[in-house]
Amino acid sequence: MGKLTTFPSVLSSIDDLSLDQIEGLLSLARKIKNKDYLGIPFGTTGPIIATYFLEPSTRTMHSFSIAIHKLGGKHLRFEANSSSLVKGETFKETLRTFASQGVSLCITRTSENDFFEPYKDAPPIRLINGGDGTCEHPTQALLDLFTILEYDKNARGKTLTLVGDITHSRVSNSLIKILKKYGIKVILCGPVEMLPKEAEGVDLTQDLDTALDKTDFLYLLRIQKERHANTVDGAIDFHTLYGINLPRLSRLNKKIPVFHPGPVNIGVELTHEVLDSDYYMGYKQVENSIYMRMALIKAMLKNKDTNVGTFKSFS
Ligand code: CP
Repeated sequence: MGKLTTFPSVLSSIDDLSLDQIEGLLSLARKIKNKDYLGIPFGTTGPIIATYFLEPSTRTMHSFSIAIHKLGGKHLRFEANSSSLVKGETFKETLRTFASQGVSLCITRTSENDFFEPYKDAPPIRLINGGDGTCEHPTQALLDLFTILEYDKNARGKTLTLVGDITHSRVSNSLIKILKKYGIKVILCGPVEMLPKEAEGVDLTQDLDTALDKTDFLYLLRIQKERHANTVDGAIDFHTLYGINLPRLSRLNKKIPVFHPGPVNIGVELTHEVLDSDYYMGYKQVENSIYMRMALIKAMLKNKDTNVGTFKSFS
């Protein structure tokens, strides 16, 4: 069983977490879900937690918001278009302002890669990456692992196939890291232009049916058109070659759950029938996201990091 006696104050990547901390989060999220969790953790004057999202979000934004409310905290939703960002205020200066206003933690989403590097040593307040460019989406990976283990507690040593637009996906980067760290084998599958040229410690294939024969869990990714310069459009070809439908799943000699981080493009990576079937785990991932994000907020705010708030110089 993992421990949360230490925890980072900036979570930008799965690399920031040890296996012990990941297992501690899984255990805490399970306790919260099973309601054998004592009391409201932060009392009636809970912390103020900000979200700073510069890209659209339904699941991540709302599940953090619900997690904050369930923990007894207050959610301060930064509205980019009506904020001083439009007058040129930097993120660094916004964080310092948040710190002065008593905000404890900020969850961010941006299209910028490696957004958190300047803050890792001495952040003005605690930070969680809710998705940065094509880099990472670590909280998605944590809730995905939680849901995979809820489906199959013996998932360690089994195989997950990730299908779709892997090269443009921050979800895939974090998921591959956490699965490798936990000991779940990974196959990456998709058209050549959506696959990395090489990836350490994982198998690559363009042949979905061969991958399906070897897999225990299927994880689908949408085509990230907003991050494509001029690569494939090909939705019809993609669906024929890589789309998941019920006949494709039912021909297999075992039941393979279908995970998806959302949002889905129905008729591209999967059919409506799969979405409505009990193969589909996407809504379970959304449900579990609240418990995992509650565990994460609690673990981070309870760390005793004395470097937080000591960030003085701004370049
Ligand atoms: N999975 C995910 O990040 O979804 P949203 O973009 O809706 O937050």
